[in-house]
Amino acid sequence: MNDLQGRRIVLGVSGGIAAYKACELARLMGKAGALVDVVMTEGATRFVAPLTFQALTGRPVHVSLWQDGGDNGMAHIDLTRGADAVLIAPATADFLARLAQGRADDLLTALCLARDCPLLVAPAMNRQMWANPATQRNVAQLRSDGVVMLGPASGEQACGETGEGRMLEAVELCDALIAFFQPKRLSGRRVLLTAGPTCEPLDPVRVLTNLSSGKMGYALARACAEAGANVTLVSGPVCLPTPADVRRIDVRSALEMRDAVIAALPADIFIAVAAVADYRPAAPAAHKIKKGAATLTLELTANPDILAEVAARPDAPFCVGFAAESENLAAYAESKRRAKRLPLVVGNLVQDGLGGDANLITLFDATGAHPLPPGDKLTLARAIVRHLAELYHAHD
Ligand code: CTP
Repeated sequence: MNDLQGRRIVLGVSGGIAAYKACELARLMGKAGALVDVVMTEGATRFVAPLTFQALTGRPVHVSLWQDGGDNGMAHIDLTRGADAVLIAPATADFLARLAQGRADDLLTALCLARDCPLLVAPAMNRQMWANPATQRNVAQLRSDGVVMLGPASGEQACGETGEGRMLEAVELCDALIAFFQPKRLSGRRVLLTAGPTCEPLDPVRVLTNLSSGKMGYALARACAEAGANVTLVSGPVCLPTPADVRRIDVRSALEMRDAVIAALPADIFIAVAAVADYRPAAPAAHKIKKGAATLTLELTANPDILAEVAARPDAPFCVGFAAESENLAAYAESKRRAKRLPLVVGNLVQDGLGGDANLITLFDATGAHPLPPGDKLTLARAIVRHLAELYHAHD
């Protein structure tokens, strides 16, 4: 996916061991379509050679205030003109301190001071250095100066200690940069989603479930978070990582999902993506069912319809439903939209998307059917967010 196509990014690398992760970051940003100019501090070159970044980006790497000049010999000015963002990864404690003071004693600090584009920093340091009041003071100062902090994460550190101060992984930083550039269409809105399948117990070792992978719901949760929403995701059992800045609540059965959704209300927008089992075994066996009889009859009882219940509440959020059909998509999707009185239904033919990374989707709202161009699930999720945000704001 070319999520950074046409973007010019200055990647600043300061002198910490996490500089090795910046190599992968440079590669990922380039792969996502960005033009990446790497600027290193003198200390960073002790950890990684400039040649590494030069090979990864295919562009010259800048280190010194005195040797690197553009046409007019002013690299500290030229490098950020026309850039979409400066991302410092890793940002050491020393670098944050120098940044907070507005110093300009090397090329990287000078260009940060001279920049006219957003600045994002990914701190990386020992947990004590991070927790030190001096560092926290610098971080608070930088935040109030409008600098965007990415991380740090918590975990095992290069020094052998464990705690907060680890740099985010390259893929997380690349995703955070992509998210940074997405329009904030749902800024400050509370979005609640369901995703994945439900598992309805038959006995202690068996369940009734379905083939939902959860990928569409997770992509939508990510797209909502990228759009600036506060996102809560109630998820059935799936093998997917939680998207950044999303609060995830794990459940198994439809009943658990219903309770978790009701407990997570109120919300401004509810998006029901989960493939909720319509029925559950009426009386799950306390012990494993033994084989023996030639046939076995299961008695099923209806599960609550979570979306219908939420949509019928007096304080109902703006509700979005999904219709996964194997035929007659338009007719079924439209009838679900009317039956549950939903402003928007996202319809797809299951043979086009179940479990895969791509999908074919049509949106159904009061004005009719809106087919989306085919794409991967994240691209589609962003298109759905664009459409639902327009409807939501019109309705709001
Ligand atoms: N849904 C829900 N709770 C249920 C069943 C469905 O919240 N118990 C939500 C789904 O998340 C989806 C929409 O309702 O957004 C699907 O509508 P529905 O008519 O229930 O679809 P199906 O369950 O697939 O119905 P059918 O089997 O009749 O096609």
